[in-house]
Amino acid sequence: MTETARTPAELGALTQSLLDDLALVTDEPGRVTRTYLSPAHARSIDLVGGWMRARGLTTGLDAVATLRGRRDADGGGAGRIVLLGSHIDTVVDAGKLDGCLGVVASIVALEEIARRGVRLPFAVEILAFGDEEGVRFPSPLSSSSAATGTYRREWLDVRDRDGISLAEALRAFGCDPARIGEAAIDPARVIGFLEVHIEQGPRLEDWGLPLGVVTSIAGQTRMGFTLEGMAGHAGTVPMGLRRDAFTGLAEIALAVERIGREGTSDLVATIGRVAVLPGAGNTVPGRVEASLDVRAGADAPRLVALDRIRHQAERIAKKRGLTVAFERHVDVPTVAMDDGLQDAFARAVLSLGLDTRRLPSGAGHDAMAMARRFPAAMLFVRSKDGISHNPREWSDPLDLGLAVEALIRTLLQLAEQERAR
Ligand code: GLV
Ligand code: MN
Ligand code: MN
Repeated sequence: MTETARTPAELGALTQSLLDDLALVTDEPGRVTRTYLSPAHARSIDLVGGWMRARGLTTGLDAVATLRGRRDADGGGAGRIVLLGSHIDTVVDAGKLDGCLGVVASIVALEEIARRGVRLPFAVEILAFGDEEGVRFPSPLSSSSAATGTYRREWLDVRDRDGISLAEALRAFGCDPARIGEAAIDPARVIGFLEVHIEQGPRLEDWGLPLGVVTSIAGQTRMGFTLEGMAGHAGTVPMGLRRDAFTGLAEIALAVERIGREGTSDLVATIGRVAVLPGAGNTVPGRVEASLDVRAGADAPRLVALDRIRHQAERIAKKRGLTVAFERHVDVPTVAMDDGLQDAFARAVLSLGLDTRRLPSGAGHDAMAMARRFPAAMLFVRSKDGISHNPREWSDPLDLGLAVEALIRTLLQLAEQERAR
């Protein structure tokens, strides 16, 4: 029997309560940290998989530990499918919304579609990816890459801080790396991938709008680099004779910041993780391992900045008697979102009586990997003060409910288009 449609406020309250429950699943008591293939990741799969099954979805785990929840087409359908979702891994000391919103909003949307008795002529699969952030292993977007058949085998050899390789971690999780190819979804069957995500920036708030449609996702390069000098006694090695890897890094870090500032307005360059080795207060650092993350709205300014950073790092290292080596982990070009799906999202937002604006994304998302093979689009939800990758990340639950309703209405449009095919 068809039940009364829930209001956006009700949908938002339900979404928020599920997000609150998911945020309790963490590897670090007192804060939200849920990295790929960790014990908390396993528990989050149990929790979210249980929510999916309770709503009539069939669930499974693919070879890279992406949780998939499927609703079959009503009336058999023509074998086509709409993909929804986002990621359930988090950064260290995360908020509750980044990634998780896209998974939870999709679950609430399918629940509501069932309550309203709406029939869909295509299957819908919700994908809860486990490795979007690339925090434990330097392999961001690896799980969505597997879904597109573009997984890079060399990721299997990368190691976490405890020396465990990604292949070993997958096996310990019950996944078989030899079967990663089977995680690829046939593009011929896919109508599109829709990802709801918080904006993680301030523009929607500035415009006074709860929702926005994403036009493109900024390209990103993520690297590791190592500076090698000479460890020595902090009390005896004279200042003039030191080959201190950490002070070399400090000078390089300032060059990275300067190059970031000198580029186009959307160029950003970040060193976010540093290991100083051997890591003793009375030892001159002999080795430093650091990360580098460079992004821009277009590819050319990012590539120019990378060249400049390498050149400066090599110059500074040479001047200080150090060696520097770079290792590129990820290089994803700027990706445009699908025009037709953007329009479908925009019409859904408009039908809610809201103004629609379009905006590019500076953050990376699973949609950038999915767009390699499938039409992909994203709906952004206003973030309070633009804060993200921070426990203060917050969106008004009413905005979350509006996003769920917009997702439902987008699916209804796709259903109409599918019936008209
Ligand atoms: C993901 O949050 C990223 O953009 O790094
Ligand atoms: Mn993130
Ligand atoms: Mn995210």
